[in-house]
Amino acid sequence: MRNPLAFTIGLNTIKALRKVQQAAAAAEQTLERPLTAIGESALRRRLQDEAGVSLTFDSVSWSAPVWKEHLADCQGRPGLQALEIGSFEGCSALWFLDNVLTGPAASITCIDPFTRLGGEPRFDHNMRVCGHSHQVTKLKGPSEDLLVTLAPETYDLIFIDGSHRALNVLMDAVASWRLLKVDGVLLFDDYLWHPELPPMARPQAAIDLFLNAFADQLTLLHKGGQVIVRKTAGRPI
Ligand SMILES: C[S@@+](CC[C@H](N)C(=O)[O-])C[C@H]1O[C@@H](n2cnc3c(N)ncnc32)[C@H](O)[C@@H]1O
Repeated sequence: MRNPLAFTIGLNTIKALRKVQQAAAAAEQTLERPLTAIGESALRRRLQDEAGVSLTFDSVSWSAPVWKEHLADCQGRPGLQALEIGSFEGCSALWFLDNVLTGPAASITCIDPFTRLGGEPRFDHNMRVCGHSHQVTKLKGPSEDLLVTLAPETYDLIFIDGSHRALNVLMDAVASWRLLKVDGVLLFDDYLWHPELPPMARPQAAIDLFLNAFADQLTLLHKGGQVIVRKTAGRPI
């Protein structure tokens, strides 16, 4: 039989936790905005005096050898158009610009809501000090709102590294497929990211689902920490 005391304590605990959660969310909302605004403008001012790249972590060193191998035919191609979902401080965008988008008129569109503290000032600074600003179109907002506004079959190369939740990765993949040219390359980051998390909280299940659903329109080039595919055919989505 259910212990009525334990049941009451359980309900009360849940109610109390909800209240704490609501209070914390409200506090976060009121505190975060001014702190973010102050922090970001202070960082922007500080970066004005810095000549070098400003990154808080290196996200590309471990993927670069695989990217180099599978993007060899894109390297230096005139007019190459890339799209990146999830740019943060610009570390991966800089890598693509320095190593692949080296041909005349090559460009990259970078999508990110830029809600993580320090991300946008560093992104702007890094593109500027590396002399790449003219090659970059920054679209600020979530990919689920922005990808649908872009023209189909426009991009030669798309890198998916935005929200890591399975549902978002799946939406990014399907929307990106419409935007990718036939013969273009789609890269997923973090296929094996945090296996201890539930499947809905990480990219793997979404990438597997995508690979199966679009199997007749792609060639799998690489499957490891990263997944890379080439689009071999297109059908209207
Ligand atoms: C792992 S970081 C990207 C790192 C970057 N690609 C690099 O390697 O330098 C993930 C980024 O995705 C962004 N993000 C989160 N949700 C997103 C969404 N719905 N649409 C687009 N970007 C999103 C975050 O703001 C964050 O900057």
